Amino acid sequence: MPLDIIIGAQWGDEGKGRITDLLAQQAHIVARYSGGDNAGHTVAVGHETFKLHLIPSGIVHDGVLCVIGNGTVINPVVFLREIDGLAARGVDVSPARLKISRHAHLITPAHIALDKAAESALGKDAIGTTQRGIGPAYTDKANRTGLRAGLLANPEALGDAVLAHVEAKNEWLVKIHGAEALDGQAIAAEFAHYAQRIAPYLADTSVLLDEALQAGQSVLAEGAQGTLLDIDHGTYPFVTSSSPTAGGALTGLGLGPKVVGKVFGVAKAFSSRVGSGPFVTELQGEAAVRLRGTGANPWDEYGTTTGRPRRVGWLDLVVLRHAVRVNSLTDLVLTKLDILSGLPEIPVCVAYELDGQRLDHFPPEPELLERCQPIYETLPGWQEDVTGVRHLADLPANALNYIAFVAAHTRTAVSMASVGPEREQVAV
Ligand code: IMP
Repeated sequence: MPLDIIIGAQWGDEGKGRITDLLAQQAHIVARYSGGDNAGHTVAVGHETFKLHLIPSGIVHDGVLCVIGNGTVINPVVFLREIDGLAARGVDVSPARLKISRHAHLITPAHIALDKAAESALGKDAIGTTQRGIGPAYTDKANRTGLRAGLLANPEALGDAVLAHVEAKNEWLVKIHGAEALDGQAIAAEFAHYAQRIAPYLADTSVLLDEALQAGQSVLAEGAQGTLLDIDHGTYPFVTSSSPTAGGALTGLGLGPKVVGKVFGVAKAFSSRVGSGPFVTELQGEAAVRLRGTGANPWDEYGTTTGRPRRVGWLDLVVLRHAVRVNSLTDLVLTKLDILSGLPEIPVCVAYELDGQRLDHFPPEPELLERCQPIYETLPGWQEDVTGVRHLADLPANALNYIAFVAAHTRTAVSMASVGPEREQVAV
């Protein structure tokens, strides 16, 4: 059985948690491969809503093993808070069900302080990070000065390493940013306490996943963030510090391409983004409120992690073609199709115009993107309520036409569409 990968095809927040939740029902293992608690997944099960940032959303399925892979960065406080919250609601979060790679990196209070200080120093040029310490933790990883999760199994080395880490970061915090120094001893003591609880979850997850695949089990790689937030293939520097693309899924889990089955790209039926950076099809005013919602519903376009209103715009097929290429997407999944119901017509961006030239490929450089104008084709809308549809073929003709248009312009099958916030509101 293969490794199937779920990728965000836009700027994150595409509704990947929902799709992961659906596909997890057939998976033996669900594994996170990149990012940390900058992600936010809302999973609705019956009347219960679970908001998860770090723990794979497969955890709500009995019998599914969850893995947090080596490509992730883990804030121990968030990890413990999430497992305690899940346990309080009757979810089994024992080490038998949840494994953390010994090679994942730890996020410390010093990383968070540095993230905040660096953002505030950038002023109006800030990236708009989630301020969870993600960038500084990956910086340490690339700089070969990071703290790996495996240290949690070695209390003595952990104490020394955390102390040295905080002292080094204090130099930056105080001398460069004029911020307050952190108390290294206190943080080391906190980490000693976390270690006792987290050590039983540590494993060599690359070996575990390989053995599972060889034994015929199926593994679902749960994406966080999205293709345009990828450090290489996104709108750099307005990106996250990891590789949320298909290549990142492999390095982030310690597996090679031979095991890959399907690569699902999840995209909203329109576009949204939180944080700064170029956004060619962005809408303002009334048109934006129509897509974003007013915030009255939990599914309106407000960030799960930060609560910020998301920037919204029409669907951008230049972006989706970029995602298809860099991830080798085998399937597209469109989410929130129901939000488009009732519009008389729906513009879709098919290409960009830059200095009088038509561009069919996405130029990830912000300075070029800022100058690109969308070239729209306008499709007829549908007035029918689609929230009860469970088979794609039963969608109204104009909704099917919209999906066929996306498939044709991306040369990728659209194999699912979500039509409402509930778990079962998916048309396949
Ligand atoms: P960071 O990952 O906190 O460093 O933030 C870098 C950029 O990625 C910012 O624009 C964030 O808003 C964005 N970002 C990070 N994680 C997510 C996510 O899960 N969904 C949407 N945007 C995200």
